[in-house]
Amino acid sequence: MRPILVTSALPYANGSIHLGHLVEYIQTDIWVRFHKIRGRDCLYFCADDTHGTPIMIRARNEGITPEALVARIHGEHVADFHDFLIGFDHYHSTNSEENKILSEEVYIANREAGHIHTASVMQAYCAKDGLFLPDRFIRGVCPSCGALDQYGDACEVCSATYSPLELKEARCALCGTSPEERASEHYFFKLGDFEPFLREWTRSGALQVQMANKLSEWFEEGLKAWDISRDGPYFGFEIPGAPGKYFYVWLDAPVGYMASSWSYFKQHGIDFDRYWRDPDQVEIYHFIGKDILYFHTLFWPAMLKGAGFRTPTGVFAHGFLTVNGQKMSKSRGTFITARSYLEQLDPEYLRYYYAAKLTKGVDDIDLNLDDFVQRVNADMVGKVVNLASRTAGFIHKHFQGQLSATYPDDQGLFQSFLTEADTIASYYQERDFSKAMRAIMALADRANRFVEEKAPWTLAKEKRMVELQDTCSVALNLFRLLVMQLHPVLPAMAEKTRVFLNLQDINWSTTIVPLAGVTIAPFSPLMVRVDSQKVQAMVQASLATVTPVVDGVKKEEKGETITMETFMGVDLRVARITQAEEVAGADKLLRLLLDVGELGSRTVLAGIRGSYTPGDLLGRMVVLVANLEARKMKFGVSEGMVLAAGDGKGRLSLIGPDEGASPGMRVK
Ligand code: 2FM
Ligand code: ZN
Repeated sequence: MRPILVTSALPYANGSIHLGHLVEYIQTDIWVRFHKIRGRDCLYFCADDTHGTPIMIRARNEGITPEALVARIHGEHVADFHDFLIGFDHYHSTNSEENKILSEEVYIANREAGHIHTASVMQAYCAKDGLFLPDRFIRGVCPSCGALDQYGDACEVCSATYSPLELKEARCALCGTSPEERASEHYFFKLGDFEPFLREWTRSGALQVQMANKLSEWFEEGLKAWDISRDGPYFGFEIPGAPGKYFYVWLDAPVGYMASSWSYFKQHGIDFDRYWRDPDQVEIYHFIGKDILYFHTLFWPAMLKGAGFRTPTGVFAHGFLTVNGQKMSKSRGTFITARSYLEQLDPEYLRYYYAAKLTKGVDDIDLNLDDFVQRVNADMVGKVVNLASRTAGFIHKHFQGQLSATYPDDQGLFQSFLTEADTIASYYQERDFSKAMRAIMALADRANRFVEEKAPWTLAKEKRMVELQDTCSVALNLFRLLVMQLHPVLPAMAEKTRVFLNLQDINWSTTIVPLAGVTIAPFSPLMVRVDSQKVQAMVQASLATVTPVVDGVKKEEKGETITMETFMGVDLRVARITQAEEVAGADKLLRLLLDVGELGSRTVLAGIRGSYTPGDLLGRMVVLVANLEARKMKFGVSEGMVLAAGDGKGRLSLIGPDEGASPGMRVK
């Protein structure tokens, strides 16, 4: 069989690995381990995705170089992956010599083949920051629905997509000034040149059906040339022959797959061209999230093709993670980093839970925290580990740790577990891990039924020693087969089991013979129950710690967090109530005339009539949101808002400054 090269998408080097990322790394790692355990030559590569404006800005904000930032994050990522038992053969960086050489090679070969052209592009430029602004660094009003504070590329309210120059009232997300338009020469990759090849590649079986359908839509829309350059300052590789122009991060990111493997190949004396030039010798698979399909199924194969490299055998997309049925959220404590998880819980719990949920499709998967506790405890501890824990003791207590000298009659169970292993292997192969887990748990149920029917505890009491040893020997042999089949998912438990059963290895085989007459090691718990208090502790810890980062910009989850900049944009002022009156026909409103010092006077219609009478209010100091847009209401115009605390049932209590404040003072 041909060797396999497998990759997972490269995580950005400006944020922590979180449970959402881990869906993909765990999925890929299980698939890779499955192949390795079955004896196939399979290599797994990944790297940090280090280039681009967000990383440059973050480093600038931290007062360090981008190189120092990516080195620090590299260390964190490597530790997180290691502790989640993600077994990369090599974890590299896109900011590496190998990646520079290969990116240049891919580019130059395409240029020489006529697949690159240049064109002048108008772009948003922030003169204050001295930067061309990426779409995500521009905020403004959606040109389609008028929603405020939207990114420069798409509206989160109406889903319209547009160019940053179409955004109304655009401003730089870094400094708040309005950007100017500037022309700049950009380099484009002529994707359209590859349409016939891409149509054929799409039909070659490289893609899941839903994904191939998505591609058909893109073909219908037409393949546009891809802008692969960015102007400096930019953290990335300068384009050969184009001073001051850099490869857009998405050009050199997938080349990072090649670079990571090359770095490994150099250390292990493996021929790079065998993997990346000859389509017949090796299979190459990329695991990705469904959001980066366009890059991996159009740009990437086209770039490879244009540069004379081979193209991927398959691209496997997966869905997103929700936690408790919703998008991960900092304020709910469900934006959980790999490290916050590891501080409380065993990584194999999550590996099993994800495996039990993952299919070969692109549906989103939900991590329901109650279900997580219940399922891991019921399946892993209750069904699998329990099989060993309730039988090993008898073997030690009565038989000096020795299994029956010949494997006893087990009603055909051992053999049928081996036969079933073929079906389970095909589920793994197809990435239908949830089916594999269900099938393994069905076997575990059968093994447990066997133990319950034989009731070793009764056999021990009745001193039926031969039957007791035989029953426990069968149970431990079946346990061994279950762990063999779970090995891709639970490598640490498999290793503990190997030591416990005194085995050479616990690799996948359908020809193994039962263990008989061997002495096993004393049983120590192979996995303990999930403690739901630790899950709670993880959620509590996550409530406080994480700042979600999207493309380097702090994400303002709606109604959850806002940036300091947004907060500073609210002009809060001390004001004195100089007049207050009821509003005829509006039983909730009072009309207030406010003295706001240097800002003059304002009229505000405040919904506080249920809690205050006009007489209560005269002369009172309040806090006014002074830069709120005036609102035209049925009873007149309200020029701002006064702050009040509410009990949720209609009872309001106005907020006022302590003594010493005077009208017009800023509230910070
Ligand atoms: O979407 C992302 O997180 C990117 N960093 C993935 C890059 S995958 C590959 F192309 F490098
Ligand atoms: Zn700016």
